[in-house]
Amino acid sequence: MIEINAPIRTERLVLRPFTAADEADMLAFESRPDVARYLFNEPRTPEGNARELAVRQEQTALRAEGDTLLLAVDLEGTVIGYTLLTWLSEQHRQGEFGYVLHPGHGGRGLATEAAREMLRLGFEELGLHRVIGRCDPRNEASARLMGRLGMRQEAHFVESEIFKGAWGGELHFAMLAREWEAAGRPN
Ligand SMILES: CC(C)(COP(=O)(O)OP(=O)(O)OC[C@H]1O[C@@H](n2cnc3c(N)ncnc32)[C@H](O)[C@@H]1OP(=O)(O)O)[C@@H](O)C(=O)NCCC(=O)NCCS
Repeated sequence: MIEINAPIRTERLVLRPFTAADEADMLAFESRPDVARYLFNEPRTPEGNARELAVRQEQTALRAEGDTLLLAVDLEGTVIGYTLLTWLSEQHRQGEFGYVLHPGHGGRGLATEAAREMLRLGFEELGLHRVIGRCDPRNEASARLMGRLGMRQEAHFVESEIFKGAWGGELHFAMLAREWEAAGRPN
């Protein structure tokens, strides 16, 4: 089990639960079409953003499989994105992570830094055996990020789902606990 009771500090970031005060920062990236392009949601309206914020404020712990821990990525007091870890299976010790960053802060390794911490939590705190990440094959920045973390591409599903009204595929990346240990917290 993981419960976030205090902010997590990485080299440049603070990862912490969302609060009601984050609404405007969150809308600044959640409303952008370029951010939503390869996500299952559409760009959020202020109303939809507020509803989603209420959900995120509760996603502060992994107590049982199916739970999602979702943390705001805070850079010097501004929320510039989020990162998450879902506990897929207790029996099989599997998890899935994800990340979103305001494009205005891209290209500096900040999303990688936040996502790496979710891998650490999954492997070192929750004791997961394997963590996966999925992305649209056209989402090259996301695929590069997972490669940068040392994850292996395990699959490329072709036209496996209808995504935003058209056939879409999916890349699956994964890392095992022993690969995490061997890499020594890869950059
Ligand atoms: C996916 C996403 C987070 C990637 O953003 P990003 O800016 O490429 O990722 P990072 O912040 O980790 O930055 C990495 C880039 O900074 C560069 N970089 C600079 N300094 C760096 C450092 N200290 N450490 C690592 N990378 C660094 C890297 O080389 C890389 O550039 P490249 O991909 O052109 O080689 C972002 O595009 C996004 O949020 N998209 C919308 C939401 C989304 O699709 N999420 C993923 C769903 S699967």
